[in-house]
Amino acid sequence: MVNKRSTISPFLFRANPVSDFMTNITANHDRILIIDFGSQVTQLIARRVRESGVYCEIHPFNAITEDTLKAYAPKGIILSGGPASVHEATTPRAHDAVFDLGVPVFGICYGEQTMVQQMGGQVQASTYREFGRAFVEIKADCCLFEGIWKPGEKHQVWMSHGDRIDAIPDGFEVVGTSDGSPFAIIADDARKLYGVQFHPEVMHTPDGAKLLKNFTHAICGASGDWTMASFKDEAIQKIRDQVGSGRVICGLSGGVDSSVVAVLLHEAIGDQLTCVFVDHGLMRTNEADEVVSLFRDHYNIPLVHKNVEDLFLGELEGISDPELKRKTIGRLFIDVFDEEAKNVGGADFLAQGTLYPDVIESVSFTGGPSVTIKSHHNVGGLPERMNMQLVEPLRELFKDEVRDLGRELGLPDSFVGRHPFPGPGLAIRIPGVITKDRLDILRAADVVYLDEIRKAGLYDVIWQAFAVLLPVQTVGVMGDARTYDFVCALRAVTSTDGMTADYYPFDHEFLGRVSTRIINEVKGINRVVYDVTSKPPGTIEWE
Ligand code: XMP
Repeated sequence: MVNKRSTISPFLFRANPVSDFMTNITANHDRILIIDFGSQVTQLIARRVRESGVYCEIHPFNAITEDTLKAYAPKGIILSGGPASVHEATTPRAHDAVFDLGVPVFGICYGEQTMVQQMGGQVQASTYREFGRAFVEIKADCCLFEGIWKPGEKHQVWMSHGDRIDAIPDGFEVVGTSDGSPFAIIADDARKLYGVQFHPEVMHTPDGAKLLKNFTHAICGASGDWTMASFKDEAIQKIRDQVGSGRVICGLSGGVDSSVVAVLLHEAIGDQLTCVFVDHGLMRTNEADEVVSLFRDHYNIPLVHKNVEDLFLGELEGISDPELKRKTIGRLFIDVFDEEAKNVGGADFLAQGTLYPDVIESVSFTGGPSVTIKSHHNVGGLPERMNMQLVEPLRELFKDEVRDLGRELGLPDSFVGRHPFPGPGLAIRIPGVITKDRLDILRAADVVYLDEIRKAGLYDVIWQAFAVLLPVQTVGVMGDARTYDFVCALRAVTSTDGMTADYYPFDHEFLGRVSTRIINEVKGINRVVYDVTSKPPGTIEWE
């Protein structure tokens, strides 16, 4: 069992060596390296750094060598938190070259502790743990605090640790303390080494983003040259270099990622691109028409609209097991896509909307593959079958960067800001068997729910909201008549990346209004419930 002394959420550990440092597009940009010790919020560090206009990549501690460090040539290095305890001999350490490279280093939580330990200080297990909100008292000026914190002030931060630093290495000075951490913030301004016991990357440390920006901009000297406008031009050039005069095929789902890929590719290679929209009958109301008219009529992108509702609903008939549903849909999708690709004369490349979080794979702490919770549906398997190479222009980007890029490309805000929608569509929002009738009932309820969310001005605050049709009928009374209809569950969550989520705390008046409208307007539903489960332990979708 892993010692969870210095962690936020210990159940996953990203130790999968992502060996290909992505220096291709980013070679011209200032870069920060984030070394991952397995914290669940390492991605948030990267997001904060990117938001400040600086390119960065996350790499697991065990993928770092002197050579990769030199080749990546970072302007600075950030050591993440992690679930281990540094006073044990076998827990992760930063490669020595990290401290010999001569660039600034910023250790966060476990990252601070391992830096202290490796440079001659001491870390001990402590009976006084600090979890959640805490206050640091600023003891001295420091470059990290430029423009935000002054000596004598107290500031809110977010802590999550049990181990505690007892002695700091020579050259370091304590510049901030908290009740549980006499070495809460340490600095060696001469060597540009810094450590914080708290997590500046989380929202609950209100000045955390500014601290990180001071590190990347003022201390590391990064220029802030990472913008989606510059990325767009570079990505277009890179696509042209990769594709040459080849043909590219792209599966369009109507989601943000595949839409951005399609428009970017079209700008880069024009009619060498063909998009295929597999309309499986599991879409929401009007979705297919919107996608087809936006891409074919507005953007003039060659688009094959394949209506295969009967095929999908036929093959899904009688299936209620969620994994079997997902696998059936995935298989049919690939068959249809393959057939259409051949119809358009084949292709040399398949474009995919792979994002950076997909590249940083998650494996369990023990190093084994993480358990499959759900088989996600994508077009994996096709490139081999059709002998195609992959074009993945969004591999370096987070979701919010993809949205910015979409805006740069002129995609309408209503499209760019869309909630995520899963590949298997409404099939995984109808537990039990799927029928056309049930799909129609769910579509109607979803329209009402989303309409009320938009009217309340909540669409952009919520990460994802949708209705689920339960295979349960209950007794009701409408007018003077008895009803025996389905239950509709409403789901709405806030999240930053879909990996963890909280249910959205609607007020009761809102929920009552939605419930009344759904029951009045949607024939087949006579009861509405609201799902108040977070992820974990729930998942966002019901299947
Ligand atoms: P879960 O339900 O696993 O979902 O908490 C996390 C996020 O992923 C979306 N999701 C999918 N997206 N293909 C996709 O493209 C899929 O098979 C799939 N399954 C879930 C889900 O909507 C949520 O945003």
